[in-house]
Amino acid sequence: MMIKKSLMVKRIYNNPEVYYGKGATSSCLKAIELSRMLVLVSGTVKKSEYYGKIIAGLAGKQIQEEIIHGPVQETIAKLAKTYSGPAKPDLIVAIGGGKVLDSAKVLKVLLDNPGLSFADLEKTRFCEKSVTKLVAIPTTPGTGSETNSIAVTRDAAGRKVPLINNGFVPDVAILDHEFLAGLDIQAIYEFSADIFSHAFEGSVSAASTPLLAAIGKSALSLLKGGLEKLRADPKDAKALESILHAGHLAGIVQGNAFVGACHALAHTIEEQIPGVSHGQSILLTLKQTILWLKETTKKPEYDEYLDAYNVLGFDTHRKPEVLKKMNADAWAEASLKDPSISTSPVRMKKENLLVLIDWILNRP
Ligand SMILES: [Fe+2]
Repeated sequence: MMIKKSLMVKRIYNNPEVYYGKGATSSCLKAIELSRMLVLVSGTVKKSEYYGKIIAGLAGKQIQEEIIHGPVQETIAKLAKTYSGPAKPDLIVAIGGGKVLDSAKVLKVLLDNPGLSFADLEKTRFCEKSVTKLVAIPTTPGTGSETNSIAVTRDAAGRKVPLINNGFVPDVAILDHEFLAGLDIQAIYEFSADIFSHAFEGSVSAASTPLLAAIGKSALSLLKGGLEKLRADPKDAKALESILHAGHLAGIVQGNAFVGACHALAHTIEEQIPGVSHGQSILLTLKQTILWLKETTKKPEYDEYLDAYNVLGFDTHRKPEVLKKMNADAWAEASLKDPSISTSPVRMKKENLLVLIDWILNRP
């Protein structure tokens, strides 16, 4: 790195290399020259036929494999211990959703910086030392984890601990939409709501810039095109490709400008009602957050986001009955502690957050 890390100049953290297209995973992994590969994979991907084909194509390479169930700090620390000795890989390949990718990002930094603890990672945002290479292959669209410097982990108490470190940005991202082929429509809409929210919240965030907002607009345009194609033909591979690319661009916006109140409120739903997905929680909080920001700031840009939201037809995929289990006061208290709240374009205090929660609970 030629530039000192703490320089106060705006910059975008992003993957140095991005490969994409049908069959990209196989071609890229076959061409990698590093010899010791550790593959982190989700249980779902491990069982898939497509993954089997990819691994079969890598015969002759020295591959170790671990199945990741969640981004649990204890598990990641154990893996760091296992792979810090003679088994240390040159390359980590993460194939899965956000949980697998986030685990791999933290593992890479722990392997390259021995002695670093999770408490240290909560305090530092810069670990430039990079020996182990990391290839991130998302199998769900939307988390943006393959491109950003954020890793959400879980501590021993089950608490979600988001970590931010520039050392987390994967060296290579591979966008291979073949992995998305098995997803059902409801899941695709939930991932798409998350993509929308990253593009939207990142673009209007207190940390945003016109450059990032322009990337956010491109993400929304790809998302709109993808969902339109999917409505015409639910098996359209090009539609899935557009949605995967939208998620990647929205991930760049989110990774560099962060998110806001919608995500803080959604994280609390996920924590308080186990089993509700991140995308569904976003669907439950997104529209009212746009409406509330529009009313509070009177900025015309919110009308554009609202129109885009309505055109995408997100409302039919919401499960509002989930909200009956939420207590407004506890919801507000927990959300105020979420780091996402700090980049909301309107400064959130308990008073105004309770108004937003009231809108979410009482205005369908
Ligand atoms: Fe998200």
